Amino acid sequence: MTEAQLLSGKTVSESVYKSLIPRISDLKENSITPGLAAVLVGDDPASNVYVRNKTKRFEKLGLFTDTIKLSSDTTEDELIKLIEQLNVDNRFHGILVQLPLPKAMDNQNVLLAINPKKDVDGFHPVNLGLLTAGTPSFIPCTPKGILRLLEHYNIETDGKNVVIVGRSNIVGRPMSILLSLKRNPGNATVTLCHTHTQNQKDITRSADILISATGIPGSISDQDISNDTVVIDVGINRVEDDSEKGYSIVGDVDYNSVIHKTSAITPVPGGVGPMTIAMLVENTIEAAESTLSK
Ligand code: GUN
Repeated sequence: MTEAQLLSGKTVSESVYKSLIPRISDLKENSITPGLAAVLVGDDPASNVYVRNKTKRFEKLGLFTDTIKLSSDTTEDELIKLIEQLNVDNRFHGILVQLPLPKAMDNQNVLLAINPKKDVDGFHPVNLGLLTAGTPSFIPCTPKGILRLLEHYNIETDGKNVVIVGRSNIVGRPMSILLSLKRNPGNATVTLCHTHTQNQKDITRSADILISATGIPGSISDQDISNDTVVIDVGINRVEDDSEKGYSIVGDVDYNSVIHKTSAITPVPGGVGPMTIAMLVENTIEAAESTLSK
């Protein structure tokens, strides 16, 4: 068998950034600096790292960004009031509320407060509805990044069996809809597996492309795939170890087990993660451009 191809989000995200440079210049010539407001509630260490990684990239590209940190005892009303201020603040073309939110808050109420035109995460029901109708506006960043990766590496989805494991609103569900749309990439026969799925192995073994978004390290091994299945690993999981940091980052997929069987795979880190950030930047630039055309 030939060696598995590595689907490098690091490489593809760099080419995305390169393609965005002239668009950023055009905006700046029109006195617009694309801006992102990132809202972080509570002190979840992983969320802190994600938001920092996102905003660092905005800074690197000369874009505007501000992170608003709120304590974990912030009320839903207080958060919604803040979002309403950000909705009318012209410095920000995009608003990102990092999930998960504290348990006392209702995600849906919070996401509903974001102006859909600034919803660069694509989580507002209006944007999810447009996506479901086949006329997407903002596409959630991780699914959009996966589509871009597949496109870049010429991995055909038309007529293929795609199995997605995990039905979150952030990844699994929008991914399943996007890949079933009559477009390219898309036109796939999609199966969405979740915690109530029976005989999951039988299903995942039928996959031409397997997308894992379970958040459970080691949840996919060579027993779960067929020869040459393309494996997309969305997981970014912290597992404790003896290293200086005290932990390492691993995906959902047991990489060493599947690497001998898969035809192509995303590494963790350096696979889907960098694509999510690149798509957030792209969506924010799209949001800024839409203010220009008015
Ligand atoms: N939590 C996990 N992934 C994401 C994401 O893409 N956006 C936001 N806002 N929160 C997340």
